[in-house]
Order: sequence, then structure tokens, then C-alpha cells
Amino acid sequence: MKIKKASQSRLNTIDFSTLPFGTVFSDHMLICNYKDGKWGNVEILPYGPIEMNPGTQVLHYGQSVFEGMKAFKNTKNEMLIFRKYENFKRLNKSAVRLSIPEIPEDIFIKGLDELLALDSDWCKFEDGYSLYIRPFIFASAECVKASSSAEYKFIIITCPTKKYYGDSIDIVIEESFTRAAKGGVGFAKAAGNYAASFYPTKQANANGFHQVIWTDSIEHKYIEEAGTMNIWFRIGDKLITPELNDSILEGITRDSIIRLAEDSGINVEQRRVSVSEILNAYQSGELKEVFGTGTAVTVIPISSVTYRKDKMTIEALEDSLSIQLKQKLQAIQKGEVKDIYGWTHKAASTASII
Ligand SMILES: Cc1ncc(COP(=O)(O)O)c(C=O)c1O
Repeated sequence: MKIKKASQSRLNTIDFSTLPFGTVFSDHMLICNYKDGKWGNVEILPYGPIEMNPGTQVLHYGQSVFEGMKAFKNTKNEMLIFRKYENFKRLNKSAVRLSIPEIPEDIFIKGLDELLALDSDWCKFEDGYSLYIRPFIFASAECVKASSSAEYKFIIITCPTKKYYGDSIDIVIEESFTRAAKGGVGFAKAAGNYAASFYPTKQANANGFHQVIWTDSIEHKYIEEAGTMNIWFRIGDKLITPELNDSILEGITRDSIIRLAEDSGINVEQRRVSVSEILNAYQSGELKEVFGTGTAVTVIPISSVTYRKDKMTIEALEDSLSIQLKQKLQAIQKGEVKDIYGWTHKAASTASII
């Protein structure tokens, strides 16, 4: 692995008290190129522009996949990366669907460790801070033929982050636009899925909502996800989340919350959830909580769900399950409790040669 350090860190130019999400980048980035049928050498370089010609394939056909993951600091100032093997596996699952060559585990895992060890100071220990990690792969050959590319770039960049949304969000059930269709790429973190979601989300924002609830593409009767989060409902004392299908992203936070909830004795159901079931549960007073889960937010309560002209308001509860589960998850992520699940890994320089 070739490492070229930044001649001067930009760290002391950053105001961490007013950190916007996703626009401040740490000092270094990892780059690896795919050419002639194989992934080449890994390089860690100072964060900066990459050269690209206008004929670069990703600009025309969107052949690109990405991941979103986080690292946290523990009290010993060690960086803990959360569930990195799961993000690695999901990136490759997305890559296969988008006809992109898979990344070898060594390149992803050792490269990530080395990069994070180098930029460790960009991750703050204080409450609410973390390092957001964005690995991505895109078609980099210069060719405008509509076909999968012969060349790709795998890059990892990182951003110091603070809390994402406020304490809760308001969302609206989307009935005309679709995020992902059966047989499509909804289960993958394909760049185009996000591009297609921006217009409906912008409209929802203009109407005062933070996000939309995506429903199934055929009847718009079944709930799938909330924006870029998996969605959960507490009906009575049960937690219900839509079962996975090929139009739902298999969230790593979703999986973690299922484990934590079940191990706390909470009854979790993964099954189809219809809009009418939620309306009925609300009317009967059984709908106690609604929340979203995802890397950026961890767990966020949803304070209202609007369906057509009706707004269902969900009062914050003293014994909120979402808050309890969020605290359990964050305690593991920050190394405050023993990680019995093996979810966290220290980012250490391995000084290995890939
Ligand atoms: C569409 C979508 N659903 C769900 C999630 C939550 O996934 P995770 O918990 O792995 O961040 C994300 C975020 O990555 C997403 O983009």
C-alpha cells in the first residue's frame, strides 16, 4: 500500500461546533483502480480532486454503488469501526447487481483500517460526534457505449459528523412516486436510487415534511422505507418492521436493532405492513411509536405520519423503546459497554502490504 501523507493537516481550520453534514472531508482518501480485469494497488493520498474526462462512463449511465458507515471514539481515544464486514459485504452485493467487479476483502478492510488510523484525529470523542465513512465504486472508463465499464475506481473518503436531524421528524406517505420496483435495484446502494428519490423528497420538504415513506411500487399499499432509513412501528408492545424484499435496503442498523430488541425480550415482527394497518392501529390507540433507523441517524423518532389529508401525531413516550434501543446501540458503538456481538473493530494501522 502506498501512503502519501498530506503536507499539512486541515484539521485546525475546521469549526467542529458548526459542522454541516457531508461537506467537510478529512485529510486523506483511499483509491484503488480496476483495469485489465483486476484491482490494482491501493494508494492513500491527500484528499483532493480526481481527474476525469467528460466521456467517463459513470457520468452517462450511473454505474456506481456506495456505502455509508461510521466509526466512533472510545474513552481511550481508540477509533471503533462499526460492523465494517457488513458494509463490505453489502457493497459487493450492490456491485454484483450493478455489474461492477467485487472488491477483495483485503483491499476494503485493511485499506479502511489504514485510512482511519491516519485520520483518527478527525473523529471526536464528545457526545454526538462520529466519523462518517463513504466507500464507493464507479465506472471510470472513457467510453459512452451503454455497457458495463472495463475500468472502475474504488475510493474511500471520510467526513467528521455531528447529529444529523433534530430530535424527531415528520413524514408523509408517498403514493405516486416509487423509490424502487420489484426486480429493480432497491436492495442495492446504487447511486441512481438516490437520484430518483430527490424530486419526491424535495416536494415533501416543500410541504413541511422531512422525509417520505416509500410504499410498494404496484399498489402503494405496503410500507417499505422512510427516506434513507428503515422504518419501525410499535403497535402495543410489539415492534414491527417491513420484511426485506428486493426493493428494500437491508439496513445494518435495522439488523442491529432487531438483535438488541430480541435480546431485550421485545417481540419483533418482520412482515408486510400495510398503510391501513397503521391507520387502524392509530385509530384504536395501539400505535405507540414510529421510528427510523440508519447509519446517519442511528434511531430517530417519527413524531407524525401524514396520509393524504390526515396527520397521525405520535406523542413522545416516557418508556420509549426506540430511545432505549438507541442508547443500547450507541453504548456499544462508543465502547461504553462490552460488545458481546463482535460489532466493533479498532482501526489500527496494520502496516501491511496489499
Ligand atoms: C434506502 C436506505 N434504506 C435504509 C438505510 C439504512 O441502512 P443502514 O442502517 O445500513 O445505514 C439506508 C442508509 O444507508 C438507505 O439509504
